[in-house]
Amino acid sequence: MFLYGAGGHAKVIIDILCANNETVEALFVDDDRIDHLLDYPVLHSSKVRGPLIISIGNNKIRKQIAESLSVIFGRAVHPSAIISEYSKIDIGTVVMQGAIVQSCVNVGKHCIINTGVSADHDCEIGDYVHLSPHVTLCGNVTIGEGSWIGAGAVVIPGVKIGKWCTVGAGSVVTKNLPDNVLAVGNRCKIIKTYNNE
Ligand SMILES: CC(C)(COP(=O)(O)OP(=O)(O)OC[C@H]1O[C@@H](n2cnc3c(N)ncnc32)[C@H](O)[C@@H]1OP(=O)(O)O)[C@@H](O)C(=O)NCCC(=O)NCCS
Repeated sequence: MFLYGAGGHAKVIIDILCANNETVEALFVDDDRIDHLLDYPVLHSSKVRGPLIISIGNNKIRKQIAESLSVIFGRAVHPSAIISEYSKIDIGTVVMQGAIVQSCVNVGKHCIINTGVSADHDCEIGDYVHLSPHVTLCGNVTIGEGSWIGAGAVVIPGVKIGKWCTVGAGSVVTKNLPDNVLAVGNRCKIIKTYNNE
């Protein structure tokens, strides 16, 4: 497997691949000054090839890179994650240590299901979503494309969060959120609307 991006997020994905006895061939970055990460060579992104995981935490950048490349994408699921046989995890997505993905959850492309996330039955998680560590999605929750849910946030059953939203760490989301908003707190309130994002 190859990775695109050589920061902290890449380090965690390397651990996942190693835990699965998969070979990490190399990482790619745009910056010529970086030549290794941990024990792995870093190459310039002009040489990018697959199978590839985009190991960059920013959802928008992950999308831009994914759409600009025509390579095969891989997945990485840590063996300590519990994944229902009735769930679906699309290409490019990473599932970190201790996450639980319950029955009939659909996880889109190039998502990050971070450490200790709990996604309960029938959740719909769009492409390029990041569920930060210890996020809890109750059953039947929908998260729109590109949304970032901060660490430890809880989304109660049936709530729909729009596309390209940000939900602050520790928030409790009790009502639907439209697209392109920043919302924080318990109970979660919208404090900003993004323009054309
Ligand atoms: C929500 C978040 C993105 C906002 O960042 P920001 O756009 O820089 O916003 P600010 O820090 O300027 O905060 C704006 C207001 O929201 C409040 N706020 C920010 N985050 C909050 C949170 N998680 N819960 C409650 N209030 C919060 C701030 O106190 C501030 O209030 P004020 O205007 O009354 O002073 C950030 O605070 C956050 O929670 N990030 C999640 C980090 C995370 O989970 N990372 C995981 C990485 S794996």
